[in-house]
Amino acid sequence: MNRIGVLVLAAGKGTRMNSQIPKQFLEINGKPIFMHSSDKFLSVADVVCVVTNEEHLAFMQALLEHDAHMGKNVKNVIITAGGRERWESSVNGLRALEELGGCDYVLIHDAARCLVDEETIGRVIEDTVTYGAAVAAVPSKDTIKIADENGFVRSTPDRERCWIIQTPQGFSWEVITSAYRNLRENGNGGLNITDDAMVVENFGNHPVRLTPGSYENIKVTTPEDLIYVKEKLK
Ligand code: CTP
Ligand code: MG
Repeated sequence: MNRIGVLVLAAGKGTRMNSQIPKQFLEINGKPIFMHSSDKFLSVADVVCVVTNEEHLAFMQALLEHDAHMGKNVKNVIITAGGRERWESSVNGLRALEELGGCDYVLIHDAARCLVDEETIGRVIEDTVTYGAAVAAVPSKDTIKIADENGFVRSTPDRERCWIIQTPQGFSWEVITSAYRNLRENGNGGLNITDDAMVVENFGNHPVRLTPGSYENIKVTTPEDLIYVKEKLK
């Protein structure tokens, strides 16, 4: 069994980016965004599973073979196909790790967060081992408001308790697989699932630790994010 498995989720369509190819394949300094992300985990993971769109599997495989040919150590990298929703991509990735015998701990990371730093990864791993579930997070600088269906303010949560949630998110194998098993068996109850911690919160039975992340660890989502990321990766 592997100790640490990492899922790098790169199977989205990137609709808000509005680019010709999904955002995770856009290149910065000659390297696709998803690879800036996955490379950050190579030294800490026993296996890195890049989850990608069905139609990009062959392209990914070719990239991997090219890297191996160029002498990069990608022996612990595997590729699998994602699903329609982000959480379905996580399910597929977990299945791929299971086929390799499972892991003690799984880190799940958005391919679009290519500025993730080693310190954040280290802190999430440490808290995952200690608490069983941990997500990178930063205190919200802005006041958050909850809206009603009509675009009016319903309420304002205490800002001191508001956190911006990032990835990586780490879980013990049992915590994440049992939560996803419950979700698959009982359906998502109409919930819009936007991260893996939500699956543990709603379908699991384990507290999730907030681990200090970094304000720089943004998710490349819209075109102006690219300007920031290009500047940072210079
Ligand atoms: N993702 C995935 N599978 C999906 C949807 C999303 O692996 N079915 C991945 C994306 O590739 C991204 C991460 O999850 O790295 C975070 O998702 P998001 O930023 O929402 O990316 P997209 O869904 O691709 O973008 P959009 O919502 O604008 O279409
Ligand atoms: Mg999305």
